[in-house]
Amino acid sequence: MTILVTGGAGFIGSNFVLDWLDHSDEAVINLDKLTYAGNLANLVSIERSQQYVFVHGDIGDSALIGRLLAEHQPRAILNFAAESHVDRSIHGPGDFIETNIVGTFHLLEAVRAYWSRLSPDGQRSLRFLHVSTDEVYGSLSKDEPAFTENHRYEPNSPYSASKAASDHLVRAYHHTYGLPVLTTNCSNNYGPYHFPEKLIPLMIVNALAGKPLPVYGDGQQIRDWLYVKDHCSAIRRVLEAGALGETYNIGGWNEKPNLDIVHMVCAILDELKPRADGRAYRAQITYVADRPGHDRRYAIDARKIERELGWKPAETFETGIRKTVQWYLDNPDWTADIQSGAYREWVEKNYTGRTA
Ligand code: NAD
Ligand code: TYD
Repeated sequence: MTILVTGGAGFIGSNFVLDWLDHSDEAVINLDKLTYAGNLANLVSIERSQQYVFVHGDIGDSALIGRLLAEHQPRAILNFAAESHVDRSIHGPGDFIETNIVGTFHLLEAVRAYWSRLSPDGQRSLRFLHVSTDEVYGSLSKDEPAFTENHRYEPNSPYSASKAASDHLVRAYHHTYGLPVLTTNCSNNYGPYHFPEKLIPLMIVNALAGKPLPVYGDGQQIRDWLYVKDHCSAIRRVLEAGALGETYNIGGWNEKPNLDIVHMVCAILDELKPRADGRAYRAQITYVADRPGHDRRYAIDARKIERELGWKPAETFETGIRKTVQWYLDNPDWTADIQSGAYREWVEKNYTGRTA
């Protein structure tokens, strides 16, 4: 048996591929375009595994996907591939529309053609699992209840709007054609291999480099954080037992304001790798201009996946964040490799002139 993973060289995808091979004898085909966010260094430990095949390509290339499906006959397709960074979607939404919407459409078409040619048994057992985000639901005020699966879609950024559109396409392919789909909407992830453009890895990397820790606006925006390995276990569980056409919210019951997150990262670094001058890392915090249209609060109600599929996160934020900081301390070469010219250009574009 084989599964096809798209975007498996990115943050969550590569954690998922590594996790999958730890838990299963089934082979993985990893199709990834290797954008700035795709990094094969994440997967060096398995590159010679008989169970693993990497294919460089685009989810929008339906001819390529068609050939891969015919050749490997996967029993499941898991779609992680996406443009995923809100700030980049504000500077340039085009790639988000292209990959997240048009790319998902082409992928769905290729999978539908493959599925329609399978035997009745093959058709029954195939799964298309679409990995999505809580950001499709929009922003909550302080006292509103957390997002359930029935919350209406109110995406506010080009990123979340493009993910919302892809979720709708996946839903429509089930409703219209009967394609056996599952959708997951997860909260903010953190953990190893997280690209240092996102809050937590950026704070760790900048702190260690003695650079400013840029907090947008008042730093009181709330996110619901989940350790990436818990996201991976939830996806495995949904693939195994999820009901066709259903969506499952995945979260860590772990809402925290950004400033608290930054303070926690600083406190762990103070303990594990104190600054040479003896001062606290939080002295590096700098308030900068807010993100346009910044969503104030996300919170996931993860009762459905717990009730129906028996899934719960294994890590608390305290255990997960400590593992994460330790991973960055143990893997400075991974970060150094990423901080190429292209990364420096992004930092300049996003942060220069962003005065509070
Ligand atoms: P990421 O940006 O780290 O990785 C995305 C991967 O997709 C990269 O390897 C990239 O090369 C690849 N890719 C991009 N365009 C492609 C294309 N057209 N064809 C093939 N591959 C392509 O993203 P991530 O944080 O790992 O997120 C993975 C998925 O999970 C995304 O769909 C995202 O929307 C969703 N998600 C992320 C979070 C989070 O906190 N990071 C939370 C919930 C859901
Ligand atoms: P991010 O990691 O980009 O994830 P998302 O926007 O998908 O939730 O950002 C998490 C939060 O941290 C978000 O409220 C924006 C904020 N943030 C900062 O305050 N400073 C930064 O430099 C970055 C990248 C994010």
